[in-house]
Amino acid sequence: MVDNQVQLVKVTVDGIEVEVEPGTTILQAARKIGPEVAPPAMCYYEPLKGSGGKCRACLVRVAAGSAKDPRPMPKLVASCITPVQDGMVVENFSNPAVLEARKGIVEFLLINHPLDCPVCDQAGECDLQNFAFEHGAVQTRYEEERRTFEKTDIGPFIQLHMTRCILCYRCVYTADQITEKRVHGVLNRGDASEIGTYIEKAIDNDFSGNVIDVCPVGALTDKTYRFKNRVWFSKPVDAHRDCPTCSGKVSLWYRGSEVIRVTARKNEWNEVKEFICNTCRFDKKDTADWVIEGPTKISRASVISANKYPKNLTVSSFGARLAAAEYKPINDERDTSQLGIQQLPPERFAKTLPSAKE
Ligand code: SF4
Ligand code: FES
Repeated sequence: MVDNQVQLVKVTVDGIEVEVEPGTTILQAARKIGPEVAPPAMCYYEPLKGSGGKCRACLVRVAAGSAKDPRPMPKLVASCITPVQDGMVVENFSNPAVLEARKGIVEFLLINHPLDCPVCDQAGECDLQNFAFEHGAVQTRYEEERRTFEKTDIGPFIQLHMTRCILCYRCVYTADQITEKRVHGVLNRGDASEIGTYIEKAIDNDFSGNVIDVCPVGALTDKTYRFKNRVWFSKPVDAHRDCPTCSGKVSLWYRGSEVIRVTARKNEWNEVKEFICNTCRFDKKDTADWVIEGPTKISRASVISANKYPKNLTVSSFGARLAAAEYKPINDERDTSQLGIQQLPPERFAKTLPSAKE
């Protein structure tokens, strides 16, 4: 009988060992251990084949290449595109040179990116904002003028702020891999590179809205949502509908009883779980269109988690316990009857919230 079992390889990241299949990248192996060792990623996006290798946010040091050849690699490597070897030893947060290099990467990404977070729709859920907050230096040394561009409407639902683009290529891979005809891409090269539509064509197909979700910054924005709200004032809930085009599994973002935005659901790495169609995203903004499942699970470190749910939904959550310890009690008797979420039994919510242990 042929033994089909794959021989796993051992990798150590920041002192923690993990076994993964051959061909796994360092970043994927680190993610398997957990967020405490996983490098940040600005261009890599697991659902998109071929993504990664553009931004260098995920640089790590390989202190030992493999069990057979334990010499260190001479330079820091991009963990999202470097495959692991058996016996490899990787240093990420444990290596000061990596952290120092990452400060430089943040500075580099911010060379042309405007600091317009106060008016940017992406603020609060922006990968670059989080990256700069966690890894950036306090000051930039850049004195030159930033590149500027006019805002462009690309298609009926999407606006491009090229000024904010970090050229990660995620939107290009998305259009290539989930739609039939990509009509936009990175035009020109070097410091003249920019996202553009070919011969001013609009992005107009059933799945075009997904480029908004994959964009790590506020370069591609939803024209039906622009300037409607700060994301931390909205309440996301998971919902689904019977959709003939996509899975119909989405997050609805409420302001009061109004659905102000529909997005795909994202995983803990802020990556889309299942791409959704434009009908679900742009045309179904009534609660009656959806079956509500319960609050969307948002990382507790995210500003979106702040002050979200009525107290009966959060009694055992980390946020509620932290708030109880750190802040004065508040009278939280908000009326949620308009959201429809009170109609579900409490145990449905319990599954989506962090446990008291977290
Ligand atoms: S528009 Fe957004 S997703 Fe597209 S390359 Fe620029 S930053 Fe990346
Ligand atoms: S995430 Fe690895 S290079 Fe961008």
